[in-house]
Amino acid sequence: HEADAYRTDLMTITRFVLNEQSKYPESRGDFTILLSNIVLGCKFVCSAVNKAGLAKLIGLAGDTNIQGEEQKKLDVLSNDVFIKALVSSGRTSVLVSEEDEEATFVESSKRGKYCVVFDPLDGSSNIDCGVSIGTIFGIYTMEHSDEPTTKDVLKPGNEMVAAGYCMYGSSCMLVLSTGTGVHGFTLDPSLGEFILTHPDIKIPKKGNIYSVNEGNAQNWDGPTTKYVERCKYPKDGSPAKSLRYVGSMVADVHRTLLYGGIFLYPADKKSPNGKLRVLYEVFPMAFLMEQAGGQAFTGKKRALDLVPKKIHERSPIFLGSYDDVEEIKALYAAEE
Ligand code: AHG
Ligand code: MN
Ligand code: MN
Ligand code: MN
Repeated sequence: HEADAYRTDLMTITRFVLNEQSKYPESRGDFTILLSNIVLGCKFVCSAVNKAGLAKLIGLAGDTNIQGEEQKKLDVLSNDVFIKALVSSGRTSVLVSEEDEEATFVESSKRGKYCVVFDPLDGSSNIDCGVSIGTIFGIYTMEHSDEPTTKDVLKPGNEMVAAGYCMYGSSCMLVLSTGTGVHGFTLDPSLGEFILTHPDIKIPKKGNIYSVNEGNAQNWDGPTTKYVERCKYPKDGSPAKSLRYVGSMVADVHRTLLYGGIFLYPADKKSPNGKLRVLYEVFPMAFLMEQAGGQAFTGKKRALDLVPKKIHERSPIFLGSYDDVEEIKALYAAEE
């Protein structure tokens, strides 16, 4: 019977997306080709991460990025792989990476209708100590055939057609949404294929975990301070929440998606726009959270309604279980 015999009806990510895309007759497999190149990048980074220490891939690359962060070797390596895979797919026109100061405009002979914004390696501070890290991506379409410009990516997150992340942890998991729910695929290294293991992920309506860097507490504003206080000292006699904070957004968001709860990267006095970048961290995770029945809030508005002015713009972000985010929205509303 099915349990012990090898499951022979392998639902690979490619097959899954082809099924999904067949609902859109106009897509002549372009999205599937784009996705297969993103998947190639993820497989490469997964294998590089797994042998980082052995392949002397840990430590600094000796350069700093536009964010003012010292680039790790894996930051640079994964960025190179994704840029090359996306350009060679022949399905993209504009690429924005955390690691590149300027957007990449694909030369006309290789242009396609998608624009991809991505964080090639998320959680770099955790590389050298072997804690889970990831890749985050969001996808826009470009409906015109003029010269591509940054206007093709400086769009609200509500115009994204797909978003996802890959987490390089105890297993390698790719979580993806193309607008019809959230689905999780686990890499089977013996096949080199991402197999559907978590169909239609829904985040619990309420959770009992909060995830924030408490080290910034002295710089938080009133509503955030009040919310975290309530997590620790509930007024209504309910049990205090647990604190879980990995420091890799992908890992903290993945746990929030599966277990429920809330992830916060608030504004603080030092960084009024918080730390996380709108295009390739906030938007993709907000997209996934809404598709999974949760929500994502900036302290002022629905995260997906932000319209970025610059490709590396930052925003505060509160995302996770629907009811938990409602509570912090009420605190900010009371502050207005
Ligand atoms: P990146 O490594 O891509 O620059 O992202 C790091 C981000 C994110 O992964 C995480 O949630 C956040 O930095 C942690 O920031 P703190 O160390 O300030 O808590
Ligand atoms: Mn970084
Ligand atoms: Mn990141
Ligand atoms: Mn990064």
